Amino acid sequence: MRSDANIAGPMTDPVPGPRTESTGVDVSRETPPPMDDTPIGRAAQLAVEALGRAGEGLPRPEQTRIIVVANQKGGVGKTTTTVNLAASLALHGGRVLVIDLDPQGNASTALGIDHHAEVPSIYDVLVESKPLAEVVQPVVDVEGLFCAPATIDLAGAEIELVSLVARESRLQRAIQAYEQPLDYILIDCPPSLGLLTVNALVAGAEVLIPIQCEYYALEGLGQLLRNVDLVRGHLNPTLHVSTILLTMYDGRTRLASQVAEEVRTHFGDEVLRTSIPRSVRISEAPSYGQTVLTYDPGSSGALSYLEAAREIALKGIGISYDASQAHIGAQNDPSMVEGIQ
Ligand SMILES: Nc1ncnc2c1ncn2[C@@H]1O[C@H](COP(=O)(O)OP(=O)(O)OP(=O)(O)O)[C@@H](O)[C@H]1O
Ligand SMILES: [Mg+2]
Repeated sequence: MRSDANIAGPMTDPVPGPRTESTGVDVSRETPPPMDDTPIGRAAQLAVEALGRAGEGLPRPEQTRIIVVANQKGGVGKTTTTVNLAASLALHGGRVLVIDLDPQGNASTALGIDHHAEVPSIYDVLVESKPLAEVVQPVVDVEGLFCAPATIDLAGAEIELVSLVARESRLQRAIQAYEQPLDYILIDCPPSLGLLTVNALVAGAEVLIPIQCEYYALEGLGQLLRNVDLVRGHLNPTLHVSTILLTMYDGRTRLASQVAEEVRTHFGDEVLRTSIPRSVRISEAPSYGQTVLTYDPGSSGALSYLEAAREIALKGIGISYDASQAHIGAQNDPSMVEGIQ
């Protein structure tokens, strides 16, 4: 497994045809018609801009960054964050692999990847020692994005792994043996701290914790952080919590801003400036086997994930993120005021 900027050069066409068509862009080289001032017109404008921005590309990491998306609390936005960040990073020009490590297979579904019981999956990699390359599938809609799917078999893996040699480091070994050049690997964990999550923590270097902006948001986090410390101490010295992302942020409620403030006080710079608004488009996208980036690229949800991806990419190479340069669509959306100040 290696990162190779020469092989994986910036994509010349990061957004294949169908999505640009859906934005209703006029291809005339003469004076462009004024964008009409309807909601659809504005959405189209934002979509065009978002996709144009995505085409700019972002600095790529020197080595593959392996980011573990974990929080043992259920329903906080782990899967949504994994697939939408991954798609954003790919649209920004990176080569990205999503590893679905949750027996629910939600990340596979959201990426439109077939994951019925017969499909070669991450279960075969972990339990049967199948090479990762044999289960990875390209995501049809987004160039540069790949997925190692999870099938229902994975539900038994927690127990089957117990009796296997090197049970905590099976995913790490599989990734190390993976030859394809990648800029990012994002691992979607199940809502538990069992052996599957431990495998992810041993394989990765960075932990990204999505925190839902609601009461009890920080409850249980201590246990996750202790597990990260334990894995760092015994199995993976490079592991650290690099990123906290506030999800389902609703700027209209006082509770959300209080939680955001508490999280920022607690974690400081690890918290991304960009937060993800609560958005119907984000929750609708998976039922179409899509990320919000392809489902509705001009929506505030898509723009916020594009922006979060930009922040993560810049932080990764030591460039501090300038929130004033944030995407105008994101800045103009009142639900994101907290995140993009
Ligand atoms: N920003 C958002 N706006 C609206 N709905 C959202 C948002 N983020 C996530 N959701 C919805 O919230 C639910 C939980 O999200 P998700 O599946 O990503 O959480 P999870 O942490 O992966 O859950 P699990 O612990 O079960 O794996 C889903 O129905 C998803 O569509
Ligand atoms: Mg999930």
